[in-house]
Amino acid sequence: MTSSLLVRGVRIAYSDQGSGPAVVFLHGFPLNRAMWRPQTEALGSAGRLITIDLRGHGESDAPLWRYSVDQFADDVAAVLDHLGLTRATLVGLSMGGYVAFAFLRRHAARLTALFLTDTRATADTEEGRHGRYQMAQAAHTKGARTVADVMLPKLLAPHTFHTKPDLVRQIRAMIESMPVSGIAGDLMAMADRPDSVSLLPSITFPTLIIVGEEDQATPVADARFMAERIPGARLEIIPQAGHLPNLEQPRLFNECLSGFLTGLAR
Ligand code: MLT
Repeated sequence: MTSSLLVRGVRIAYSDQGSGPAVVFLHGFPLNRAMWRPQTEALGSAGRLITIDLRGHGESDAPLWRYSVDQFADDVAAVLDHLGLTRATLVGLSMGGYVAFAFLRRHAARLTALFLTDTRATADTEEGRHGRYQMAQAAHTKGARTVADVMLPKLLAPHTFHTKPDLVRQIRAMIESMPVSGIAGDLMAMADRPDSVSLLPSITFPTLIIVGEEDQATPVADARFMAERIPGARLEIIPQAGHLPNLEQPRLFNECLSGFLTGLAR
């Protein structure tokens, strides 16, 4: 069921199910909170599971204006305030991980644990920023479909393309449904995000890092780099998965996530 709240005039949609310690799921670009369905369906008893459509995505508003990872993080904090939750574990995939780092910078006292998947701590390179600019122009002139054409091969492992055509269709539909204002807003937010590498040694709460073995967008080396710098962090590599292991290999992903959440409860 969709709920929503207004954050400084922008409607932010979320779903909230279950009870117990709060776990907030932050999706990647250019997706929405529906990408977490295999987790919310399978892990219903693992805690209070909250999935949020970041502004620009899914059922949230997509204003035509500046977006930033800080603003996304403040939207997440506003959802927690609205639900009366002081603390939560964040599960962030890719751009969701960038938002988790922004949340850490701005609201560290509200974090219980971090589950980072297919993300990186470094900022964009100049070349990466230029790629964002070009994708925003392509979205502006040709629409979200062209973003789906470019992104799909980067998001999914070849194995997924061959064996899960329905999943490929669902992800394409999710991308094509995204308003261009949201796509451009995300691209600007990601291009401008600060480097988070210096934060890593200061992370003192439990952290698990997951990455698809064939992730091209944020490869295993990025995950290893974070795991080596966050004290006590564990790294799990999911075989036959690309950038979206929660959708490509949900059983393995869910085992990692439920094991992590159970460990926190002990
Ligand atoms: C994502 O999945 O959120 C994006 O691929 C992240 C990025 O482009 O840096």
